[in-house]
Amino acid sequence: MWLFLCMLRNVLFLKFCPILFPVFLNFLTVSHCLTDASTRGTAMVPKLALDVISCEVVRVLQLTDSCIVPISYQVPRKSSGQEFHDDLYPDTVGTTPAMSAEEWWKGGNKQVDKVSLHPDKRPKPAAKPTPVKKELPRGESKEDQPHGCSTSSSPLSTPSSTAAPSRSPSSTSGLSSGFLPSPSQSVKAIQSMLGPTSKFRHIQGAVMHRDKHITNIRNLNLTTPGECDGFCVNRQRVAVPLAIAGGQIAVFERSGPGRQPDTALPTIQNSVNVADLSWDPFDTHRLAVAGDDAKIRMWQVPEGGLKETLTEPKLVLQGHTEKIYSIKFHPLASGVLVSSSYDLTVRLWNLESGEQVKILTGHQDQVFGMAWSPDGKLLATVCKDGKVRIYDPRKSTAPVQEGPGPEGHRGARVVWVCDGKYLLVSGFDSRSERVLYLFSADSLSSGPVANAALNVSPSTLIPFYDPDTSVVILTGKGDTRVYIYELVPEDPYFIECSSFNSPEPHKGLAFLPKTECNVRDVEIAVGLMLTKTTIEPVAFRVPRVKKEFFQDDMYPDTAVWWEPALTASAWLSGSNGQHKKLGLKPKDMTPVSEAPKEAPVRKYLPSSVYLEEKTDEQKKEELLSAMVAKLGNMDDPLPQESFEGVDDEEWDD
Ligand SMILES: *[C@@H]1O[C@H](CO)[C@@H](O)[C@H](O)[C@H]1NC(C)=O
Repeated sequence: MWLFLCMLRNVLFLKFCPILFPVFLNFLTVSHCLTDASTRGTAMVPKLALDVISCEVVRVLQLTDSCIVPISYQVPRKSSGQEFHDDLYPDTVGTTPAMSAEEWWKGGNKQVDKVSLHPDKRPKPAAKPTPVKKELPRGESKEDQPHGCSTSSSPLSTPSSTAAPSRSPSSTSGLSSGFLPSPSQSVKAIQSMLGPTSKFRHIQGAVMHRDKHITNIRNLNLTTPGECDGFCVNRQRVAVPLAIAGGQIAVFERSGPGRQPDTALPTIQNSVNVADLSWDPFDTHRLAVAGDDAKIRMWQVPEGGLKETLTEPKLVLQGHTEKIYSIKFHPLASGVLVSSSYDLTVRLWNLESGEQVKILTGHQDQVFGMAWSPDGKLLATVCKDGKVRIYDPRKSTAPVQEGPGPEGHRGARVVWVCDGKYLLVSGFDSRSERVLYLFSADSLSSGPVANAALNVSPSTLIPFYDPDTSVVILTGKGDTRVYIYELVPEDPYFIECSSFNSPEPHKGLAFLPKTECNVRDVEIAVGLMLTKTTIEPVAFRVPRVKKEFFQDDMYPDTAVWWEPALTASAWLSGSNGQHKKLGLKPKDMTPVSEAPKEAPVRKYLPSSVYLEEKTDEQKKEELLSAMVAKLGNMDDPLPQESFEGVDDEEWDD
């Protein structure tokens, strides 16, 4: 919050670090930036808030008549985004006062200590919370892009850019101001800048300890088709396609991490190339493998894992006339599988009887992705023909809804979010930029309600959605960056959280059941990351202060999705089911909502403190107090929340 207050003071301070200036400025991606809007003020973001890993050396916030535009200056370095370049970042002046007022009055003279900008050596902030400091959730985000400027190598438009601002606070209507031309517009601009904050905004991904890695994996097939996630995991084991003739698949037991022997391992011999593969969610031993030969083979891994090579599938599903794109198990009914194929049909299979039970039609081109609705009634698809569709497969073989999907032809995925109210589609726009689209599930035809453009990169972002927190984690095969958003069912829909970068490009990231999360470390998702030769667990943790308490606001009872709610035949004959729910609180922990409350921190000072210009003092004060009150309202009443904006201690490594 102090950043925008700083701008309201209309201070213009544009200074470049004298050491950086002569040497590096010529090499910045863009050395000047022209915007069509006129500038009302500028302010520089503190050094400690810069994205040093992306070689950002300066970030200026520009105030225009209607918005605040972050302008980022990055030095184009080869390994930008991967490592800290210490030559760009000499130690900088820290934020801990060198002395008290009293000491200074008494004649003391001291320098403020310098601190390193290296992400691993960041100083611990002073424990004393300052009442007005509040983080800028999106302003702080790594690659926010000013409209009309190409100032960084990896553009990102403000996630909420297409969402119509719906909040026009009535408390400020009718106000006018000398230097803020249209109060309601400015309030909107400032709010869209500050946004509602996500309590997951400081989420951290971390590769778990080496002793949990599976290493020395040989001959992985690293060129699986775009519709395939690359590998698949369950609580007990991991299946990975190998680059050995005959469509071989390796199976690794999670209970036996460590270095794999140099000798050949027993495998599943699928006999034809693997197009897609998936564990049965209700049977950790059963693997479905879609092949290049239009067949789906069901394999049964024996108790304890593969001891010898399997050559005989338990069941072969035949019906498709061409190669398969992808397969998806039903989320509630055991033994229901859906497949999409180059023959442009989507087929439903009953694994109890081994039969094909439905053929869904309507696709005009490659089916990029499919997803079952959380209630198991509907199937959504995204297709290269530019359409997003919803089927009600028990009622009709034709789609019940259709709408305009991504224009780009590189690939796409779909997932149901926000209790099945929305579909999140990750795809490409016509300029091959990766974009996330959110569709209202009951009006596909009206097009996306919001979107978020990310960057230009060839691989499709594969989403993992956690319904308990409404956090979506996205990454593409071959990427290093893992994007994280909180999704909310109203404007601004996408709230960007901090992202995770894997040390080297990974080949896939697949997630485990919620029960694998260590709630004592506030893990909200645990995935397995496939690299060229290893499988490494990655935990996504939310930094919290009072970790001795169970963070019950993070952990509502979770769906036991690994147990079926009904049988294939019951579902096919029209029944529906629901998963049981499971509480995650360990017996010996107290919920943080029952923790003794702290005295509330006073959230703001009178606005007059920050205003030096006096054109229409009264009105400005009203405006500011209204904004501050708005911000105050967004705060979560839980005690740990009041720490989040100020106590960054927990999110340093
Ligand atoms: C890897 O899998 C793909 C897809 O099935 C296949 O086309 C390719 O030939 C495989 N690569 C090797 C080296 O076996």
